[in-house]
Amino acid sequence: MSRVKDNNYNIKNYNISNESNYLSENAISVKGLKKSFKKLTILDGIDFDIKKGTIFALLGPNGAGKTTTIHILSTLLLPDKGTARINGFDVVKEVDKVRSLIGLTGQYAALDEYLTGRENLQMIGRLSRLSHLDIKQRTEELLELFDLVDASNRAVKTYSGGMHRRLDLAVSLIASPPIIFLDEPTTGLDPRSRLIMWDIIKQLAESGTTILLTTQDMDEADHLASRIVVLNGGKIIAEGTSDELKQMVGTERLEITFINTSYFEKAKEVIQVEKFHADNKMCAISFVTTGGVHQLRQVLSQLDEANIEVENVSFHSPTLDDVFLILTGHSTEHSNGKEEEEKEVPKQ
Ligand SMILES: Nc1ncnc2c1ncn2[C@@H]1O[C@H](COP(=O)(O)OP(=O)(O)OP(=O)(O)O)[C@@H](O)[C@H]1O
Ligand SMILES: [Mg+2]
Repeated sequence: MSRVKDNNYNIKNYNISNESNYLSENAISVKGLKKSFKKLTILDGIDFDIKKGTIFALLGPNGAGKTTTIHILSTLLLPDKGTARINGFDVVKEVDKVRSLIGLTGQYAALDEYLTGRENLQMIGRLSRLSHLDIKQRTEELLELFDLVDASNRAVKTYSGGMHRRLDLAVSLIASPPIIFLDEPTTGLDPRSRLIMWDIIKQLAESGTTILLTTQDMDEADHLASRIVVLNGGKIIAEGTSDELKQMVGTERLEITFINTSYFEKAKEVIQVEKFHADNKMCAISFVTTGGVHQLRQVLSQLDEANIEVENVSFHSPTLDDVFLILTGHSTEHSNGKEEEEKEVPKQ
């Protein structure tokens, strides 16, 4: 996708409505939002504001309440309590106004598999009540932008996963909405397609679009978003820039790798740190340290006393994964069922 590599998009916000019922720098404002399904509390009073023209990430593991939040903000679901405003318009009381301002790319593609890519775009253009001329122009621009011109006359059911995702995003942009919701835009994409999608998202924000995206991927939130909310079990457990979140967890992460599985397994039993992360695949243990060299010396002597051989020791800057581990006691990988685990050991 050469255009993406060249960073040479031509994203324009045609006819973007600046309509707003009050002058606010916030495109999205959420206060005290609550939602339950039967007796199960899904959102337990969440608050956040998103400035116009920025990328905001809602980061959380499976079942955190990300899609529920997006559905409420895009008027597909009613909240039980609290308010949510899009450019000042209430998502419950001013549904039409809100819908005219937003585009949604859901977690699962909402495309007609039997229509071609071009026909999907045209159909949504008609449903969005665009003029014939606008539909024609926007369709061709978006096919070009998302590198789908060659595939445009093929039924969508023949598209690859990455093409589906790109077309799905293109469709949500047909009416040039100033605010878009992207629910896990890169889940299931290969690394190259993920980078392409990141580029497109960044370009959209640069052109003035406000983007709320959800992700389970620390790296994605880190790369794209100027502000991040960490959602867990329907509650916001942290909010800030990625640097602020990283600062919350200490200054450095210490990683120790072991030469074989038996040393690694033994190390998990003897190591005395408050919380550590064990990567079974890499035979590595890591933890956030504020104690620096002093703590390193302590841990190495614990391992030495147990006759455990260490392969490598390294210090890293903390990642957003570390933030999650510190805040919740488990990492995002853990919740995805990957081969990693965490252990809490009482303080010495
Ligand atoms: N219509 C519904 N009826 C009952 N429970 C629901 C409904 N929709 C969602 N839930 C539950 O609400 C919780 C949060 O779901 P939600 O889809 O918002 O999570 P998520 O953060 O988007 O997770 P994922 O990363 O898996 O997409 C889950 O436990 C889910 O099973
Ligand atoms: Mg979801």
